[in-house]
Amino acid sequence: MKIGIIGTGNIGGTLARKLSAAGHEVRVANSKGPEGVQAFANEIGALPVDVRGAVEGADVVILSIPFPAVAKLPEGLFDNLPASVPVVDTSNYYPGLRDPRIPDVDAGQVESLWVAEQIGRPVIKAFNNILAYSLANLDRPLGASDRLAVAIAGDDARAKAIVSVLVNEIGFDPVDAGALAESWRQQPSTPVYCCDWNADETREALAAAKPGEAPRKRDRLAEHFAKLGPGATHTDIVRLNRTLNNQPLQEEQLT
Ligand SMILES: NC(=O)c1ccc[n+]([C@@H]2O[C@H](COP(=O)([O-])OP(=O)(O)OC[C@H]3O[C@@H](n4cnc5c(N)ncnc54)[C@H](OP(=O)(O)O)[C@@H]3O)[C@@H](O)[C@H]2O)c1
Repeated sequence: MKIGIIGTGNIGGTLARKLSAAGHEVRVANSKGPEGVQAFANEIGALPVDVRGAVEGADVVILSIPFPAVAKLPEGLFDNLPASVPVVDTSNYYPGLRDPRIPDVDAGQVESLWVAEQIGRPVIKAFNNILAYSLANLDRPLGASDRLAVAIAGDDARAKAIVSVLVNEIGFDPVDAGALAESWRQQPSTPVYCCDWNADETREALAAAKPGEAPRKRDRLAEHFAKLGPGATHTDIVRLNRTLNNQPLQEEQLT
């Protein structure tokens, strides 16, 4: 498949590397034009392009840039892309911690619906609920007992099926997380978020999410992570996520 990837950081870069290794024709772009991604593209056997080159003629586009940067993509970027081509959104919103506040999302708009609104077309939300370390290092063959899962939300069954194939190819179990409007269930600080769950655990965690809880937990995340200290390992981070994201929202438990 021809896969255009916009954003070559922790998540986009890892996906580009793995999808290229899986035999796909991968094009990569960041905000700096083809020269800005030339070295990385050469390293992984991909084609360096600008953001328009990542979209043109693609069978799948993966958007893996900071949440607020979505609003700054060139006007009409996706206008000529057939509606059947999945555009995958990996983003997460961290107001205060990393991102400027976006009033509509703070008021409760589902993050990927906001992204869809910015780019003028529906998206498939995937790869947002897995840590970059896990994506890079914890892939497993199909059927392995310790294979982790990736939640996939969206409104187009065919597009979700295409993304599921890619998830599977790079070593993870795809789990259908329902419609895009339901994708609040996989946003930061939900039970399914960055906890290294397998497929069954992922389904249970999606079902366990409670409306309105996650943003309140997310906003206190910095305090909890500060307690882990600078030497925190991947295991420490996953353990903390499993604890915080799955406990009931009670102020005394969050202090
Ligand atoms: N890190 C994680 O563990 C993790 C896990 C799941 C989901 N996510 C989410 O996935 C997204 C990407 O995360 P990340 O950790 O990979 O971020 P990152 O390492 O900071 O990489 C972001 C990439 O986006 C590019 N970029 C920024 N603005 C752009 C623009 N306007 N046009 C084109 N490219 C642009 C950056 O390149 P230049 O700035 O050089 O152009 C860079 O290549 C974020 O929304 C994040 O919340 C992250």
